[in-house]
Amino acid sequence: MGEVDLAAAAPEASAASVPSFSVGQVACLLTYLWALALYFYALLLHSRRPKTLPKVHISDAHLEKERAIAAAAAEAAPLVNGSSSSDGGAAAKPKGFFEDMGSSGLIQCVLMNQQALMDNKDTLLAIVEFGTIMLWFFLADRTDVLPASDKAYDRDLFLFIFLVLTIVAFSTSLQPVRTPLVLNRPQTEEWKGWMQVLFLLYHYFEAKEAYNAIRIFIAGYVWMTGFGNFSYYYRTGDFGIGRFCQMMWRLNFMVFFCCVVLQNEYMLYYICPMHTLFTVMVYAALALAPQLNKSHPWLWIKIAGCFLTVLIFWDIKAVFMAVWRPFDWFMGYTDPRNPEVDRMHEWFFRSSLDRYIWVYGMVCAMLHPMACKFLTSVDELPSPRRWTVRAAIVACTVAVFAVYYKSVYVLPKLEYNVLHPYTSWIPLTCWMIVRNLTPQLRTWSMRLYGWLGCITLETYLSQFHIWLRSSVPNGQPKYLLAIVPGYPLLNFAICTALYVFVSHRLFLVTNALKDAVVPHDNNRTLLRNIILMGVMMAACTAMGFFGHTLAYALS
Ligand SMILES: *[C@@H]1O[C@H](CO)[C@@H](O)[C@H](O)[C@H]1NC(C)=O
Repeated sequence: MGEVDLAAAAPEASAASVPSFSVGQVACLLTYLWALALYFYALLLHSRRPKTLPKVHISDAHLEKERAIAAAAAEAAPLVNGSSSSDGGAAAKPKGFFEDMGSSGLIQCVLMNQQALMDNKDTLLAIVEFGTIMLWFFLADRTDVLPASDKAYDRDLFLFIFLVLTIVAFSTSLQPVRTPLVLNRPQTEEWKGWMQVLFLLYHYFEAKEAYNAIRIFIAGYVWMTGFGNFSYYYRTGDFGIGRFCQMMWRLNFMVFFCCVVLQNEYMLYYICPMHTLFTVMVYAALALAPQLNKSHPWLWIKIAGCFLTVLIFWDIKAVFMAVWRPFDWFMGYTDPRNPEVDRMHEWFFRSSLDRYIWVYGMVCAMLHPMACKFLTSVDELPSPRRWTVRAAIVACTVAVFAVYYKSVYVLPKLEYNVLHPYTSWIPLTCWMIVRNLTPQLRTWSMRLYGWLGCITLETYLSQFHIWLRSSVPNGQPKYLLAIVPGYPLLNFAICTALYVFVSHRLFLVTNALKDAVVPHDNNRTLLRNIILMGVMMAACTAMGFFGHTLAYALS
């Protein structure tokens, strides 16, 4: 059907033929241009630099290790001293907090310290790349530079694409893992990968008939959040605030800028708040009274406590609303196409669907050693008995799945959703059993899907804007981006290639910036950087505010 009349879809957008920009958008644009200028200046400095100059590292990530060098540099370089004296008397004390602030790569770059600019060239490039991608998001989704097209579902095509990809993955990217543990990392990544492909294709083609399956996949991700995080904290006891902040960065850095640049509410990307909350809850369950984690009975009590918490805070809807209503500005969501729906509905609905499955993930992590032991004991049985036991396990699994399928899976969407929170663990468990039954199955996984499984967050966020199109603030992605209008398949291939490439770049950039800003194990630097980020954000917002006011005064 081709191009879509966007004005008809969203009447409020039609008035703004000249789009009106928010303060946040202006702030982002100005910051981007600023970073761009700094980067090119750094490149220029770099090309002119005599090769023999000693390299002074002021990069945030390496601050602690290189503290001595940095301190020496602070004494040697007049620019650094100049910067701390600009803070006035407060910075006069040696090795004080403000000196720490002044030595940050960020501040030094803002002050145009030439050495710092050259040393942090890569971080500047990461910022520039991120900004460029955000600009692409905006151009692709919020302007008419490229047209939008309608979605069309064709089951044959949907399955064809998935099958071809799987055949390619199977025939070119099978790889073994050295210790074939049950649910090993490459295997769970592969699992995430193929679920994500189906989840995305479901959006692209609007494959309504796959609704229930997609709900199970989302439950699968949330299950992994509980399973992965519990295993990690249980095994390592690493409750360091640095690592925790790194995880929060990874989950929320990009979505924050998507919200600002595209004027969306956080809940449009409901996967992010959901995973963030459940990750925090797993962390809290284990980090509170960590000495109890050594005792299994206590761990089971903690897990029971999680179940009880969910029961109180979700199953009693009034409690949920009382807790979250005050955060309406943050967790509320209004779909411009259904403005009359309660703003808390989306958050309640989405988080309720998977409210128990992360706790089940923790249960599975607890039972993991037992499952491993059991399966190895089966592997060691003599041949005929081994296969009999395996056949019996498969038969039981298939029987359970068949009952589940007939009584739950085939239900229509709304009836299915009622049962989903209590039943999603059944198909997930069936899959885990079948996938891990023999050592060969555990050993091999498809790296192509594993690779896609690593960038699920980025593909999830990017799809809204540079693969599909939401077209208006807070809009669900109802359209497709059309780079080659009139050629749906060609367009699919080109858009997909670009979109996956960009998602992978975003994954790398998010991690690079995370390493530059959030130190893993230096809480002092972490605190400093958090404060600096707050200051930077305030400064950029102020800049955006002035830019915004000026632009509208002139127009
Ligand atoms: C914890 O869960 C979050 C959200 O799913 C994920 O990004 C992170 O990698 C998990 N951590 C571990 C150690 O598995």
